[in-house]
Amino acid sequence: MLNQTVDFITDKLKGNLGNFVPEIGIVLGSGLGELADEYCQLAIPYSEIPGFETSQVSGHKSRLVFAEINEKKVVMMQGRFHYYEGHSMTKVVFPIKVMKKLGVKTVILTNAAGGVNPAFNPSDLMLITDHINNMHVNPLIGPNDDSMGLRFPDMSEVYSAELNEMVKKTAARLGIDLQEGVYLALTGPSYETPAEVKMARIIGADAVGMSTVPEATVAKWAGMDVIGISCICNSAAGVSTVALSHEDVIRAANIAKDRFKTLVKEVIKKI
Ligand code: HPA
Repeated sequence: MLNQTVDFITDKLKGNLGNFVPEIGIVLGSGLGELADEYCQLAIPYSEIPGFETSQVSGHKSRLVFAEINEKKVVMMQGRFHYYEGHSMTKVVFPIKVMKKLGVKTVILTNAAGGVNPAFNPSDLMLITDHINNMHVNPLIGPNDDSMGLRFPDMSEVYSAELNEMVKKTAARLGIDLQEGVYLALTGPSYETPAEVKMARIIGADAVGMSTVPEATVAKWAGMDVIGISCICNSAAGVSTVALSHEDVIRAANIAKDRFKTLVKEVIKKI
């Protein structure tokens, strides 16, 4: 299926944009999809792509967007596949494998997350320094494709320390406050209980969310450099005393989106 998908996309690219080889892949999280709208040169709806699922989450557009941003060729996922939607892990990470086959060297994974670190405020941006997989399933389970990566891949530096330094310098230069920390992934779709958030803090997390870790794991396995940026859309349950809602998450992402876009565009320039 992977080769069929890559052939389908390559044909579309040839027909519309000529010899377009994306070097950067970006997964745009809830409320952060505007970057794709702004630069779109070619959009392929997921419903047309063999092997792709359709993401149903509101705030996600469900299309693969190709564009040149700051002279770099980029492929963007406007909407991702979540495990909580009922997709298998294989389907969740499939687009990352497609990106690799298309020529992508660096992926930028973004998401909306809940703040566990009490110093974080809604609409803060957080650079992901490391993650904890608490989804109780690993996307690499199953036969290993040795042409893409090792059976037992090292995960001691999933998020490139070198690129993270660049992102931090870039944010500082732009005057954008950037938190940093560890992202913990749970399956969702229910938000956490206060007890779960307390556990997250105890085991070393600064933010919690329902995505990114599967994609980061597969990107690292396949030899791509990874940058992860969370939009801290709310204080997680218990850190906050108010009930959480998806609408509030999207609202906070909207407040952050201009800063987020400015940062990502500048990061793209520096990659
Ligand atoms: N928990 C998990 N995922 C999230 C949250 C949260 O509080 N906010 C946005 N995504």
